[in-house]
Parts: sequence; C-alpha cells; structure tokens
Amino acid sequence: MQWNRKQNMCAANQAELASGKCPMVNKDPVKIVAVIGPKGGVGKTSISANLAISLSRLGRKVVAVDLDLGASNLNTFLGIRKSKYTLDDFVLNKVDKLHEIVLETGIKDMGFICGGNIPGIANLHYSKKMKLIRNLSMLEHDFVLLDLGAGASYNVVDFVIISRQNLLVTTPEIPSILNTYSFLKTLVFRRLAMALKALDNKAILDLVERARDVDKNPHLKKMGDLVRTLGRIDERASDLAVEVLAGIRPTLVLNRIRSDRDENACAAIENLMKQYLGIEARRILHVHEDAAVGHAIAKMRPVMIERPDSVFAKDINEIALFLTQDT
Ligand SMILES: Nc1ncnc2c1ncn2[C@@H]1O[C@H](COP(=O)(O)OP(=O)(O)OP(=O)(O)O)[C@@H](O)[C@H]1O
Ligand SMILES: [Mg+2]
Repeated sequence: MQWNRKQNMCAANQAELASGKCPMVNKDPVKIVAVIGPKGGVGKTSISANLAISLSRLGRKVVAVDLDLGASNLNTFLGIRKSKYTLDDFVLNKVDKLHEIVLETGIKDMGFICGGNIPGIANLHYSKKMKLIRNLSMLEHDFVLLDLGAGASYNVVDFVIISRQNLLVTTPEIPSILNTYSFLKTLVFRRLAMALKALDNKAILDLVERARDVDKNPHLKKMGDLVRTLGRIDERASDLAVEVLAGIRPTLVLNRIRSDRDENACAAIENLMKQYLGIEARRILHVHEDAAVGHAIAKMRPVMIERPDSVFAKDINEIALFLTQDT
C-alpha cells in the first residue's frame, strides 16, 4: 500500500505498531526521531532543541514537538516565552489537525509544537495517542523531532516504536546507564509481546512474560534462550522474534562527557544489549560537558544561537549530520 499524506490511508492500529510495518511510519518521507532518556535530567530537551535548529541549518524542514506530557519545557530551551497554541488544543479537540498548532520559531524551516499541561495528559488515552501518532506522521516536514519525558511508561515506549530513529540519551553515570538498559528491556519486551500477539497462542505470550523476570527464570536469561524456546512451541514465533529484534537499533547518545574514561561508559551497555536483549546499537554518539549549555539556558536562548562555536554546538551538529545521512 502506498501511503498518501492527504488521504491518511494507514490507520495505525496496535498490530501495525507492534510489527513496525505501518507504511505510514516506515515508508513515508517524514522522519520521526524520538529523543528519549529514561533518567530525568540527562539532557533530552537540551539536545532536542538544539538538534532541531542544527537540522534546519542543514536545510531540512523540521518541527520540534514537546511530548514531555505534563512536564513540558522545550519552549524555554528554544527561548519561546508564550505560545498561541499548545498540545492541549489538539488533545481537547479544539483543533482538528496537528499541523494547525505548529508555531513559527523565527528560525527558517523550523516549527514547534508546544507541550500540553492539562491534568491527565501524561496518561493519554490509547485512541488519543493513536490519533496523535497519525497526525505526527502527516506533518509536512523532513524531520519530526519528539522530545519525550523521562521514565519508561507505555506512552513513551509507544512513541519510540513509531519513530524511524531513536536517540537514547544517557550520561556516563551508572544509574543513568542502568536506567537506559531497563528502558531498552521494556521496549524489547513490549515489541515482542505486541508482535507475537498476532499468533494468538497463550503459551507464547506467557513465555515472553516469564522471560522478563530473569531471577525466577534464569534459563531464559539470554535472548537467545528465549528465541530457541519460542521456536520449540512454534517456529513462526522465533522467526517473528528475530525479525522484531533486528528492527530495534537505537542510537545511544552519551551526554555530558568529561573525560576519556566517560567515553567508554557505553561499552558495558552494548554488551548487555547484545547478550540479554538480542539487539545492537546503530551508533554511539558523544556530547561533551560544556558550560555554554547552562549559560544559554540562563539567558533563555538556544546554545546553537548563543554559542554556535561551542563544543556542545559542534557535537549537536555531528548528530544532525548523522541523522541526515542515516537511512
Ligand atoms: N552537555 C551538557 N553540558 C552541560 N550541561 C548540560 C549538558 N546537557 C544538559 N545539561 C544540563 O542538564 C540539565 C538538564 O537538561 P535537560 O533539561 O535537557 O534534561 P532532560 O533529560 O530533558 O530532563 P527531563 O528528564 O527533566 O526532561 C540542564 O540544566 C542543562 O543545562
Ligand atoms: Mg526534558
């Protein structure tokens, strides 16, 4: 099926989400990029705001979307004090289509959707979330950059599933690395469970559920063990699992690097990802600690504008380049 922006032919339902085969998501010209980081304060919003500017400077049409539902602050990092519309207008049906609430930023080719703060928005109803996902995919931009909230709620995970590229932000500290691993585990098991549901076999779903708990089920500790056991029940299940796992290729962004030692912080997680989750990182990108970030925030100005020559700005430009070259 050819996806057509105007006709909105692809209804993104749960099965499509699960398989990652929704044509709207995977074949359209819009690149949805999810900026995630399960640990709070690791730099998701700093990176999203400045990355959007960097992409627009590379001549790409970009919209930065504040999806930190209930705790939005991307506007501050972009230096936008007031916004005519917010995501609340879309969630409360005050506007019909998401493109109606895209705000101008004053930066060429860059739009912005301000976050919503109505009570309960953090627990967006499933049908509302699907409507939002459809509308995000219909935006007429080259890149739709999602600044997501901390944590590993299904709201976060589902936006990650529909994105074409994921930037998983972590700092070199152990708690952040461990949170990143747990987030990936949630993501992998959610994708597996959703995809395997299609086989309509309770034994398979029970097995996947059991494998989450490695303490009680050490024989299913490694992903290879789970895949083999699935294959013994139904060969299609192991084939499907292998396909799902091959499709999960997060890009890790190691932020706030201060030393050479920090640069290697992702080695441990890469190992865990391979062995226990059966997935590989697409790339590991580095962003250095830079006082320019704090100074720019204090002035409510984006670093890319305030200090385009800073180390942080250069690192962000590298990420933008990677996104434009990665297919
Ligand atoms: N590379 C960096 N160098 C120096 N300071 C940084 C860097 N990256 C982020 N910071 C600082 O870390 C703080 C938190 O950043 P930010 O708000 O972007 O994190 P976040 O992951 O979006 O947080 P939350 O989980 O609350 O949404 C900010 O005050 C910012 O100045
Ligand atoms: Mg944030």
